[in-house]
Amino acid sequence: MLSPKEFIEDAVQKVKEQIGDEKAIIALSGGVDSSVCSVLVQQAIGDNLTAIFVDHGLLREGEVEQVTNTFKDRLNFKFVDASDEFMDALAGVDDPEEKRKIIGKVFIEVFEREAIKYDAKYLVQGTIAPDWIETKGEIKSHHNLALPSGMVLELCEPIRDLYKDEVREIGDELGLPATTVYRQPFPGPGLGVRVVGALTRENVEVCRKANKIVCDEIEAAGIDKDVWQYFAVLTDTKVTGVKGDQRDFGYLVIVRVVNSIDAMTASVAELPWDVVQTISKRITSEISEVTHVALSISDKPPATIEFC
Ligand code: XMP
Repeated sequence: MLSPKEFIEDAVQKVKEQIGDEKAIIALSGGVDSSVCSVLVQQAIGDNLTAIFVDHGLLREGEVEQVTNTFKDRLNFKFVDASDEFMDALAGVDDPEEKRKIIGKVFIEVFEREAIKYDAKYLVQGTIAPDWIETKGEIKSHHNLALPSGMVLELCEPIRDLYKDEVREIGDELGLPATTVYRQPFPGPGLGVRVVGALTRENVEVCRKANKIVCDEIEAAGIDKDVWQYFAVLTDTKVTGVKGDQRDFGYLVIVRVVNSIDAMTASVAELPWDVVQTISKRITSEISEVTHVALSISDKPPATIEFC
């Protein structure tokens, strides 16, 4: 069993041997896996690694600034604002699987355009052990990835044998900030799987604001480290409400806070009632488009953690 320091030395050496003087790219999301991988590979090959952070328009409040500030001086960091491209491709699409497919497809298109610019031969991926152990049968890594244009990138997966808690230890040892190392899981398609129905810039912004209130209140109550994920979902249900002496007709927002070990199953977290009430009051008073807040009380199974 290697210590975190020994693991880093060993991984850096292996990456040097694999990539040599070639160029590599990584899709950096700001989550712990891709962040740890980026810093490890940067230590091995320096600025021959380009870390590409794509804004698909479905990120959380403040996320672009937070990820940019964390990495702009640490990595050969490239920010790509592709939000218009994603939102245009998603216009009018309300089927959840279709939305996911479009987000995945546009992501690859954007990423490929960047890969070509940087003349990359290697794609660094933050694959961790549960990612491939759970896809039984695919025990051996595929060694390369063919992009739609025919460009082939060889894979480099420096943390493939680690579990999440081990990745966090490595992140701490690398000196990454706690906001990165202990960040709650956030799905690749971002708020796209937390807005039910077709996405618009307007409804994504409502979800983003509600999510920020949930996060602020859970963190202020000191519950954030005790739960697996906490977030807001914007439904496409509109409900009657009353604001002042006026009848109102606005969105229903759902607050979901779950406990889990590995996301395969999850149970609803019990929250102090004053925290629930503060979240509800803040969302309806600070976001004019919302009239009603509900609390999700379904475990996984039968529900999934995300809504789409
Ligand atoms: P579900 O909704 O399937 O989510 O219970 C299980 C865990 O996976 C996350 N999740 C995703 N992560 N890309 C990701 O990187 C995705 O498309 C995706 N969908 C769900 C979810 O946040 C939860 O932690």
